[in-house]
Amino acid sequence: MDKKDITVLAIESSCDETAAAVVVNGRQVLSNIISSQIDIHKLYGGVVPEIASRKHIEKVNQVIEEALTESGKTLQEVDAICVTYGPGLVGALLVGVGAAKALAYASHKPLVGVHHIEGHISANYIENLDLEPPFLCLVASGGHSHLVIVRDYGDYEILGRTRDDAAGEAFDKVARAIGLGYPGGPKIDKLSKEGNPDAIDFPQASIDGAPYDFSFSGVKSAVLNYINGCKMKNIPYQEADIAASFQKAVVGVLVDHTMKAAKDYGIHKVAIAGGVACNSGLRQAMEDACQRRNYKFYRPSPILCTDNAAMIGAAGYYDYMKGIRHGWDLNAVPGLKLGQ
Ligand code: KG4
Ligand code: ZN
Repeated sequence: MDKKDITVLAIESSCDETAAAVVVNGRQVLSNIISSQIDIHKLYGGVVPEIASRKHIEKVNQVIEEALTESGKTLQEVDAICVTYGPGLVGALLVGVGAAKALAYASHKPLVGVHHIEGHISANYIENLDLEPPFLCLVASGGHSHLVIVRDYGDYEILGRTRDDAAGEAFDKVARAIGLGYPGGPKIDKLSKEGNPDAIDFPQASIDGAPYDFSFSGVKSAVLNYINGCKMKNIPYQEADIAASFQKAVVGVLVDHTMKAAKDYGIHKVAIAGGVACNSGLRQAMEDACQRRNYKFYRPSPILCTDNAAMIGAAGYYDYMKGIRHGWDLNAVPGLKLGQ
């Protein structure tokens, strides 16, 4: 007899996207609805937590309903309700957690709390049916930069993390300094294509004794100093060259550290995840580096790299299969650690 299909309804509201998805067996996405708040937050140059919470409340039911309708499934037909419960903005997380608890309670379905970063990593399962642990994953988002060995489903060994700014945060801050606005990553990515990546030699930081850790505050400061220096001396500068040179420095570090870890640990399957995994420079450089070494390279489509609920459904499925269930006391945990 065929194994029974497991269908989950997944909800994500950790930052500025209200999202819901229906996913079968962790890999097949029946619907993936994302309502982005970017247009509101960009008026303020970044995410305003109180506004994020309020907008999530306005949208969450509508997004869930749309996800169910588009999937062709009713609430009664799903096997579990999965929801991001951390890390993220506490008020934003609480909206998704509250909605998931209400639905699970009303429909007598199990509730599965999911770690947001596990979701980002699991986005790789969706389009790569052949991908199975163990593999190495670089997670680079607006709030996190981690180099992780995925030993098994839900079993993570963190090799390195950022000591200061996350990679996406550095992109956002540099974009603001150049005057590109929020969110900076996609704008720097686009502008880089018109600039010379070798125009300015920005630092690529390594940390003594911690070869897999990252630090992006140095390169960010170097960009700000460069711009201030030009302004003070009245020297014109090219925004596109700054963007391209900055992107080259960040991508260089991300790829070098990942390749070192792959070699040191003998893992020849490499994945990337998180919003920065949308970056065209990173995708290309990582692909080239993997190809040269004969490593297999995985990356989600851009829509699955930034925040979405399909990735929460992918991670949630494997949690569900391991027997993970949460009670009605599930709370938002803004600082939730990976593997916790
Ligand atoms: O994973 P994500 O959607 O949210 C978090 O969990 O943080 O990541 C958002 C981050 C932002 O910092 C954004 O600027 C960055 O991902 N990002 C990019 C690109 N697209 C999004 N960074 C570089 N290049 C991109 N194309
Ligand atoms: Zn995220």
